[in-house]
Amino acid sequence: MSTSALPRILCVDDEPNLLAGLANTLRRRFDVTTAANGPDALRIVADAGPFDVIVSDYRMPGMDGAEFLRRARQLAPTTVPVLLTGHATLEGAIAAVNEGRVFRILLKPCPPEILIGAIDEAVAQALAPSLERRRYEEEIEGLSGELQEAARLATAGRLASGFGHEINNMVAVLDGTIAGIRDATGSGGALDPEDIAALSHVRKHLATHGKNLMRLGRPQRTVAGTADLGRAVQDAVAMLKETGPLKRAKVVVEVPATPTWVGLAETPLEQILLNLIKNASEAVTTIRTRIPTITVAVTTDNVIGMATCTVADDGVGIPAADMDRLFEAYHTTKPVGSGTGLGLFVVRHIVETAGGRVTAQSREGQGSTFTFTVPLRPAP
Ligand SMILES: Nc1ncnc2c1ncn2[C@@H]1O[C@H](COP(=O)(O)OP(=O)(O)O)[C@@H](O)[C@H]1O
Ligand SMILES: [Mg+2]
Repeated sequence: MSTSALPRILCVDDEPNLLAGLANTLRRRFDVTTAANGPDALRIVADAGPFDVIVSDYRMPGMDGAEFLRRARQLAPTTVPVLLTGHATLEGAIAAVNEGRVFRILLKPCPPEILIGAIDEAVAQALAPSLERRRYEEEIEGLSGELQEAARLATAGRLASGFGHEINNMVAVLDGTIAGIRDATGSGGALDPEDIAALSHVRKHLATHGKNLMRLGRPQRTVAGTADLGRAVQDAVAMLKETGPLKRAKVVVEVPATPTWVGLAETPLEQILLNLIKNASEAVTTIRTRIPTITVAVTTDNVIGMATCTVADDGVGIPAADMDRLFEAYHTTKPVGSGTGLGLFVVRHIVETAGGRVTAQSREGQGSTFTFTVPLRPAP
């Protein structure tokens, strides 16, 4: 296999001197391979393909150029054929174009600049589909980046209203405390140490909420980085506990005592966890007869070089028919305004960008387990 970045050309001619001359003309511009007959050339196409362009002689003993190109096309449909012929008959040319999908027919002897010009065009033709595919892939990539940002903002928006609620609670505590202080000091009394304690309690809460809000609002264009998965689990659980979603459930966190460094920046890692744990909490909201349990566990024992994180709930579960669509964008079973259907789509996008995988297992009426892996990294 050649590792040259030059376009790959296969030249086929039964006349050794012509073949050597052809190869010499093309060698400076292209990565050239030669074959002396059709059957040899077919073997080369099968073993060492794909070539960008095949330049073939027409008149060859055994298998002629039209037949060779027809068969080569079956082996390598994206290779662009050019036919080089001493005596072009109209029938031969028609067969070559119709059956061999020949791109150009050149007459021998062919001046080098014409030959090279034709092969340049053939190469451009060969590369065109992959250029188009590349552009398409870039578009998809950009789109999922935008969706990721949109979903992050949606998550942030929903959590922000939870933080707003908490801040209002703190304002209520502040109001009460201020009234108490006013009463005591207005009548010439001393400050009550309990009021001071209440103030510093409020201060601590506000500081936490401020920090969390700032983190949620921070735009994240890249997922590259290193973060402690165990820490991220604890932070995500704490954030969701403070803003309400986890209040009713028993949350079990099982993470290694030492940091589990993984190849993802802190914010996208937290975004994965917030989405999975929030989904779990939403899956247990209708459980009224018992206290539901959500378990978030991290281990490094399952897959070599990877950390595995599971988020398990004993909530409503997922109907088997929905399992295939879980990670699709906009798939949601939640009422308009409460679900976007982007959470799991984004989870999968981030996990796979980082080189990991995410899977789901569920039993309707019994609960669900989401599992994702991310590559382990050395401590930063
Ligand atoms: N832990 C879970 N238990 C039950 N259903 C779930 C769970 N996680 C996800 N789902 C299902 O997958 C759907 C898509 O989830 P997601 O992409 O996070 O979007 P959203 O939560 O906005 O609906 C949810 O609407 C729900 O039906
Ligand atoms: Mg969700």
